[in-house]
Amino acid sequence: MSGLIVTEDLKKTYFLGDIEVNALRGININISEGDYLSIMGSSGSGKSTLMNILGCLDTPSEGKYLFKNNDISNLTQDEMSDIRNKEIGFVFQSFNLLSRTSSLENVEMPLIYSGTPYKVRRERAKDALNLVGLSERQNHLPNQLSGGQQQRVAIARAIVNNPGLILADEPTGNLDSKTSHEIIKIFEKLNEEGRTIVMITHEEDIASSAKTSVVIKDGLIEEN
Ligand SMILES: Nc1ncnc2c1ncn2[C@@H]1O[C@H](COP(=O)(O)OP(=O)(O)OP(=O)(O)O)[C@@H](O)[C@H]1O
Ligand SMILES: [Mg+2]
Repeated sequence: MSGLIVTEDLKKTYFLGDIEVNALRGININISEGDYLSIMGSSGSGKSTLMNILGCLDTPSEGKYLFKNNDISNLTQDEMSDIRNKEIGFVFQSFNLLSRTSSLENVEMPLIYSGTPYKVRRERAKDALNLVGLSERQNHLPNQLSGGQQQRVAIARAIVNNPGLILADEPTGNLDSKTSHEIIKIFEKLNEEGRTIVMITHEEDIASSAKTSVVIKDGLIEEN
């Protein structure tokens, strides 16, 4: 099987004391490079669980996950974090910016972790902020920005390492519809540049901006 992301009968079971939660019950998904996929589904259906596994933040209980033909279940924690840092950009509903840190420094953060020298990382962080249209806000703290602007900083942070894959979990969940569409425009642009995008959303019209869409129900992909 080729594809950037291939899963085979992926399962995730959480154990909480005596309670067993079958969050994913056999997901088969094939995402090619350059795809823009939206994942819909009601609350508790397993979307974030799937996203966490695809993003190498968590491991499946059963089944296979191949990322660029590498079997992720065989990797060490270090190798997984290497993939996260080099290949994947994350965007979350709640922005997850550092509150006492300027836009520019927030965007720079992944480059600090990867040991990029100061001058290079400043330059790249500025480029990323420019790409999301926020050059003029580089010295603002998160609470001096609107929600949509904060999400744009988060997107700049997600792309500053130049990842091929962007995973977004409800990126417009905290935004009004006008701002949501501005954010979606950025995702469309990133996809046009060749990046693969996987986006979880509750909203039909946001999902329709993606090239393809799947629905998860009770830990399974619904056939349509
Ligand atoms: N760490 C955990 N421990 C135990 N159960 C969990 C854990 N994380 C998620 N679950 C359970 O797994 C199921 C799927 O959760 P998940 O967060 O993937 O849903 P979701 O589709 O992202 O929902 P939402 O739209 O509300 O974000 C839920 O029943 C949830 O209670
Ligand atoms: Mg979720």
